[in-house]
Amino acid sequence: MKRLFPSLREIGKEFILNGPMHQKEYLVNGRLKPWNGPVQEVLSPVLISDGGSAAPFPLGSYPLMTEKESLEVLEAAEQAYDNGRGEWPTMSVEERIRHMETFVFKMTDKRQEIVRLLMWEIGKTLADSEKEFDRTVEYIRDTIGALKELDRNSSRFIIEQGIMGQIRRAPLGVVLCMGPFNYPLNETFTTLIPALIMGNVVIFKPPKLGVLLHYPLLEAFRDAFPAGVINTVYGDGQAVVGPLMKSGRINVLAFIGTSRVADILKHQHPRPHRLRCVLGLEAKNPAIILPDAAIDLAVNEAVLGTLSFNGQRCTALKILFVHRMVSDEFLKKFSQKVSSLSMGVPWENGVQITPLPEQGKPAYLLDLIRDAESLGARVINEHGATVNGSFFFPAVVFPVDSRMKLYHEEQFGPLIPVVVFDDIQEPIAYMVQSNYGQQVSLFGNDPQQIARLIDPLVNQVCRVNINSQCQRGPDTFPFTGRKDSAEGTLSVSDALRVFTIRTLVAAKTSPENKGLIKEILRGNQSAFLNTDFIF
Ligand code: G3H
Repeated sequence: MKRLFPSLREIGKEFILNGPMHQKEYLVNGRLKPWNGPVQEVLSPVLISDGGSAAPFPLGSYPLMTEKESLEVLEAAEQAYDNGRGEWPTMSVEERIRHMETFVFKMTDKRQEIVRLLMWEIGKTLADSEKEFDRTVEYIRDTIGALKELDRNSSRFIIEQGIMGQIRRAPLGVVLCMGPFNYPLNETFTTLIPALIMGNVVIFKPPKLGVLLHYPLLEAFRDAFPAGVINTVYGDGQAVVGPLMKSGRINVLAFIGTSRVADILKHQHPRPHRLRCVLGLEAKNPAIILPDAAIDLAVNEAVLGTLSFNGQRCTALKILFVHRMVSDEFLKKFSQKVSSLSMGVPWENGVQITPLPEQGKPAYLLDLIRDAESLGARVINEHGATVNGSFFFPAVVFPVDSRMKLYHEEQFGPLIPVVVFDDIQEPIAYMVQSNYGQQVSLFGNDPQQIARLIDPLVNQVCRVNINSQCQRGPDTFPFTGRKDSAEGTLSVSDALRVFTIRTLVAAKTSPENKGLIKEILRGNQSAFLNTDFIF
């Protein structure tokens, strides 16, 4: 109890927050506008003990905005875009890069504060919180590099069939960016940063959990970009996002969350063909452990894949298919390893299992277990499914089959269903029938069998991992999914494409046109029609 729920005195001062953070402003039209309306209290999933009892630690509050402010923010964004005629969308790539460099420079100053908030707000371990911050900064730097490369490739003319043209990528307009609670900084920024740098203007709504950690960045956003280029909204999705979508004035929806919410948002937009969607949705990535798999390696990867950040990753392994010939050995070693994981507060040295930020989560996970138990499965690892406050000790549930909810639903938590199979067609059928199609992990060593599996599986999912857990990174690799798992592809370079449209200036190669274009180029009169090379 003492270790799981420390008192404030027991927490190292480098992890203590400097008092509650009451955010009473939002970013609109280049200024931090005061907010005096209702607020949402933020409680940490970390419980703090006070003598006998333990209670969620209050972190602060943020504005609960209404339709009125939401539309005010939309107005500011539209004004900055000015139908593509604004300062930002017409600015040269080189200048936009300079603004982004200013932002990333200011952002790095906030590392410690944001890392601390990640731990307190969503319960992510210190190591993973630091990784999330550093990975995001690296993503921004890589994005700048990728844009320079893209611009260099577009800085020349193409002459074809008597027509000369310069082809570039132009922005789409107002982008609404909404990220998930499990990677509130990183996954939001993997859409927000490319959207911005390509000349779009952004309305950013942080996820329900993981709001305050963005507060330290508002000044950097305000100071690094022209007024109205980036604006923020906070509050209940229906109250603030609904009006934005219903206005029909959002050009791109960048959303990472559930397909249920994505469907609602898409349907609210009255002009669907004017809306581009970039979506990262649910997944239920399976691992398939073949009879000749290296069991120790498969166990290690399966633990990482199922339980990093308590299994709260869209890329997590969410169901394990183990061949009957190796199931005893695998289950014994896997259960032992799961039960040996250390549970504690996020800043504790070497901690692996941390408090769950979603309030109803332990109850939901227990319900999935009850359902599986009623159909013949059980929790097979020591301490599995022990609940203590916001902690849920990981549970390995076996044998799971298609009658159980756990076979189909994305549990998004520390619960691991294991299915035993005799025929490889069983896990393949699972994938074919699944609503999701993000990734799969194959564990085995027979080149012929692995090759035979790769070919059909690449048409079911978008990444086949061999003897490795599923994951998004490296961020230069394409990240996407089939069916209900995604819309659009994200990677450092792909993201620059999804937030833009190929656009060209073309002319017949007459001497007059050549002269005219030469004159424009020589005078450096257009940001688009330009052959400057960015070094
Ligand atoms: O939640 C989904 C994330 O994109 C997963 O990223 O595989 O790097 O943890 P990751």
